[in-house]
Amino acid sequence: MNFRIATMFIVTLSLCCHSRALKEGQSCVADGNCDSGLHCEFCLANGNIRPRCTRIQPLNPLSEVKGMPFNRYSWLTTHNAFARLGQRSATGDVILAPSNQQDSITAQLNNGVRGLMLDMYDFKNDIWLCHSFGGKCYNYTAFQPAINVLKEIQVFLEANPSEIVTIIIEDYVTSPNGLTKVFDAAGLRKFWFPVSRMPKNGADWPTIDAMIRQNQRLVVFTSKSAKESSEGIAYEWRYLVENQYGNGGMKAGSCPNRAESSPLNTTTRSLVLMNYFPDNPDITQACKHNSAPLISMMNTCHEAAGKRWPNFIAVDFYKRSDGGGAPEAVDAANGQLVCGCTTIGDCKANMTFGVCDLPEASVAPTVASTNETSSAHLDSRLILLRWLFWTVLIAIIMSF
Ligand SMILES: *[C@@H]1O[C@H](CO)[C@@H](O)[C@H](O)[C@H]1NC(C)=O
Ligand SMILES: *[C@@H]1O[C@H](CO)[C@@H](O)[C@H](O)[C@H]1NC(C)=O
Ligand SMILES: *[C@@H]1O[C@H](CO)[C@@H](O)[C@H](O)[C@H]1NC(C)=O
Ligand SMILES: *[C@@H]1O[C@H](CO)[C@@H](O)[C@H](O)[C@H]1NC(C)=O
Repeated sequence: MNFRIATMFIVTLSLCCHSRALKEGQSCVADGNCDSGLHCEFCLANGNIRPRCTRIQPLNPLSEVKGMPFNRYSWLTTHNAFARLGQRSATGDVILAPSNQQDSITAQLNNGVRGLMLDMYDFKNDIWLCHSFGGKCYNYTAFQPAINVLKEIQVFLEANPSEIVTIIIEDYVTSPNGLTKVFDAAGLRKFWFPVSRMPKNGADWPTIDAMIRQNQRLVVFTSKSAKESSEGIAYEWRYLVENQYGNGGMKAGSCPNRAESSPLNTTTRSLVLMNYFPDNPDITQACKHNSAPLISMMNTCHEAAGKRWPNFIAVDFYKRSDGGGAPEAVDAANGQLVCGCTTIGDCKANMTFGVCDLPEASVAPTVASTNETSSAHLDSRLILLRWLFWTVLIAIIMSF
């Protein structure tokens, strides 16, 4: 019975709603209904039960304006990028540790994620991506050997010669040159951005163009200060300031620094990283967190950081939101950083900073087209589909 309803649902979907290019906010039933860069989801945490097209990709700021220093751009960053929902441990065990993201590193990179937070441990005579209990990695908290993911990054950098990726390592590796070995083995050495070129006193970073030209397109930070001199891996908090992570970083109206970081207004650190995710990753709440509260915290942290916008915006479940989500926050930060406008879409090459074109003519029709009432024919079909959707959902729930 349930199976029959599910089949009917799927058949209806495939018959009626293929190749529609719906915009952000419009009702949908499947990802395929939405324009590129969007997927179809609802956000129960925000009382938003109508599935709608929501954003999963920021605009690539480099396709708007090139030539600026690295610290004048903002990058979508995934917290625990490796901790993928539903993944089995490469040890064969079922993972009994929280997951923070929904897709692979390759998929994240293809969606425009450019900052990856990775927790690395010594495990099984190798370096693994892992969570820990008491600082120790176990079969049931180990996701996979780090080299697998580093190789995905290598393939991406090879295939995309003008993209820059930042890896932020929560570093538990104590084996001698453990990180060096695994980065070398993954073929990432050739992309390495050297510590010697990182500004130490709040100066601008080299430009994006210079980094691309020199093929120094991989920026790596470690949480272990000694590795800067021993392995040439930059100690994170010598170059960036960062707000508190977890619940402590989610209290509206305040943006305290993480203990290891200098205060956010320390301008001798050229980069600003904003964390916005709870202690315990929560896929159901993530769509709410990654929406208005994220933008609001970005404004709070902007003040706390001496009016600096975040270069890295780190979230859990980066694809979840009730509309623009983390990609919208990144676009906003890029707009402010690159050209002094409210979103990167308003920035043009060689424009005067802060002289933004106001898209009067183009805004009105776009807004109107996202209004459901303007597409009544689609709506009546969606009422049926919504009914089907709920029927199937209820059927699935009852079958448990
Ligand atoms: C962990 O997994 C490996 C297989 O990768 C297995 O040989 C080993 O016995 C497991 N260890 C424990 C404590 O279960
Ligand atoms: C940074 O902010 C603190 C208050 O949080 C203030 O006392 C300090 O003077 C500020 N430092 C700079 C360099 O603005
Ligand atoms: C911007 O300025 C640079 C150098 O002045 C010039 O080469 C480039 O063509 C300009 N771009 C546009 C879009 O005007
Ligand atoms: C959609 O249109 C209706 C009537 O024209 C209006 O009341 C409503 O505020 C609009 N909604 C949005 C999201 O623009």
